[in-house]
Amino acid sequence: MHRKVTIIGSGNVGATTAHWIASKELADIVLVDVIEGLPQGKGLDLLQAMPIENKDVGVCGTQDYIETANSDLVVITAGVPRKPGMSRDDLLATNYKIVKDAVSKAVQYSPRCILLVVSNPLDAMAQAAYEISRFPRERVIGMAGVLDSARFRAFIAEEMKVSVENVTAFVLGGHGDTMVPLPRYSTVAGIPLTELLDAATIQRLVQRTRDGGAEIVKYLKTGSAYYAPGAAVAEMVEAILKDKKKILPCAAYLQGEYGINGLFVGVPCKLGERGIEQIVEIKLTLQEQTALENSAKAVRELVTSIAA
Ligand code: 2OP
Repeated sequence: MHRKVTIIGSGNVGATTAHWIASKELADIVLVDVIEGLPQGKGLDLLQAMPIENKDVGVCGTQDYIETANSDLVVITAGVPRKPGMSRDDLLATNYKIVKDAVSKAVQYSPRCILLVVSNPLDAMAQAAYEISRFPRERVIGMAGVLDSARFRAFIAEEMKVSVENVTAFVLGGHGDTMVPLPRYSTVAGIPLTELLDAATIQRLVQRTRDGGAEIVKYLKTGSAYYAPGAAVAEMVEAILKDKKKILPCAAYLQGEYGINGLFVGVPCKLGERGIEQIVEIKLTLQEQTALENSAKAVRELVTSIAA
């Protein structure tokens, strides 16, 4: 039986996510958007690409949530992207309204789904989705760590002139300026980065990772990244639908882990068919723990300002 993934928001991130999911033949896809014709047109186009790719994937687009019924996964990409000079946090009020509407409608038709939140500011939107859906925390997951880690991996591979396949990396914390790339837990062919590069080079790559989204916004001017965000979502969808038990950095609702309570923050999570099946607690140095707490503080300020 085909699995079903709904993607709410059919802009660049939503449509590219659909593309990656279809190219991996993970599930049938329903694209949703408030703009009439947009999800229908992109959905039909993607459907027509499937014979070329030899993938048996159904794709459709709609404004009507009834067509999303009984989805295994609902990916929330709806919202406005940032423009040059804006931080992700500047999108808070506008995207909160959009995410609230999307989540309430989606969970009505797919009460057993797993919600995967992509809209920015990511951690605060994941928290909003968790509160609106009233789902258990296992079934509300924010995408950001996979993207931020992929950026770090790309920069490490480029710097060291090695295959990206050799590079693993971990980025924790909120998906914002305070994110916490962890060089100690990032490796090239299993060798910690801290053994391979000097501190100044590592710091340059860390900063470029933190600014990874903004660097692209500056080039594009009218929007933000979508190839890597879409690929990151597809990796998480694959881990869940194939019950891979894959450990990936995700935004998860913490209840005491890492000393943080009642808040979405990026941490290593084991993803499987039940969603977040385990939050993996790794040992942090005092400096890393302080950076994570700082990042959590920035997320909490946003979440509190939604509630106000
Ligand atoms: C990024 O980092 C859009 O937040 C996303 O590119």
